[in-house]
Amino acid sequence: MRNKEIEETLSYLKSRLPRTPKIALVLGSGLGVLAEEIEDPVIIPYGEIPNFPQSTAPGHAGRLVAGRFQGIDVLAMQGRFHYYEGYPLETIAFPPRVFKALGVEIIFLTNAAGGVNTAFKPGQIMLIKDHINLNSLNPCLGPNDPELGLRFFDMSRAYDPELRALAKGAAKSLGMEVAEGVYMWFTGPSFETPAEIRAARVLGADAVGMSTVPETIAAVHCGLRVIGMSCITNLAAGVTENRITAEEVLEISEREKPRLSAFVKATLTAIRTAEGWR
Ligand code: HPA
Repeated sequence: MRNKEIEETLSYLKSRLPRTPKIALVLGSGLGVLAEEIEDPVIIPYGEIPNFPQSTAPGHAGRLVAGRFQGIDVLAMQGRFHYYEGYPLETIAFPPRVFKALGVEIIFLTNAAGGVNTAFKPGQIMLIKDHINLNSLNPCLGPNDPELGLRFFDMSRAYDPELRALAKGAAKSLGMEVAEGVYMWFTGPSFETPAEIRAARVLGADAVGMSTVPETIAAVHCGLRVIGMSCITNLAAGVTENRITAEEVLEISEREKPRLSAFVKATLTAIRTAEGWR
C-alpha cells in the first residue's frame, strides 16, 4: 500500500480525469501558457486537490490542466513548487509520485534558467542532459518507501537518452538550434553571485536554476522517464555587466513562447510516434 496521501490524491484525480495521462508536463516560469493549447481541458486548481500544495511563485498559475495535446493524453502542471518557497522537498516530490501512481509514463520538466555557457544568448533552448546538485538536499532523504522505489537508485541516465534523441530529432526537423547541457540547481531565491557562476562553469554547468532537480530525482526514484528543457532567459550573474531581474526572466520566457511551444509539440509528436501511441 502506497502512502495514504498519495492514495487519497490519486483517487481524487481519478474521479476528475477523463482518461489516464501518459505524459505529465511541468511548466516553469512564464511557460504556463503552453497549457492553453491543450484540447478539451479539464482544469483543476491546486486548492481543490487533496494534499496538493499551493503555488506561490510569480508566473505560476497553480492548476492542473488535463486533456489532449498533440494527440496524447497529458496532464500539465501550470505552476510548480520550489524549495525557496519554503516547501519541504517531500512536498516537491509529491506531484511526480502521484503522476506515477496515476499511470503517467513520462514527465517533461521545463524551466527558465540562467546561461552559464558563454555561447548561450537569452532565448536559447537547452535540452537537459544531466544535472549537478551540490545543495546537500535530496527529496529521497529519510526513510525509504519500497513501494515507491529503491533506497539507492541509479542516476546515470536520469534524463532519458532515448527521449533526448527524439527531442533533438524534433528540433532538427523544425530547423531549430537546440543545445544540450548540464543544469545546476541552486536553491535561490537570491540569484547566484558571479563567483558562484564561475565555480558552476568550472564544474561543468551550462545553466543554473532554482527547480527541476528535486522533481527529476523523485521521478527517477519512482520509475518515471524524464525529459527536461531549459529556456535560457538571461546570462547568469557576472557573464555580463547586467543585473538579473525576475521581470526579465518572465519577459524572455513569454517572448520565446512560440519557439518553445513548437519545440515541445514536435517533441511530443516524436515521442507519440516512437511509442506507437494513438
Ligand atoms: N539563476 C537562477 N535561476 C534562474 C536564472 C538565474 O540566472 N534565470 C532564470 N532562473
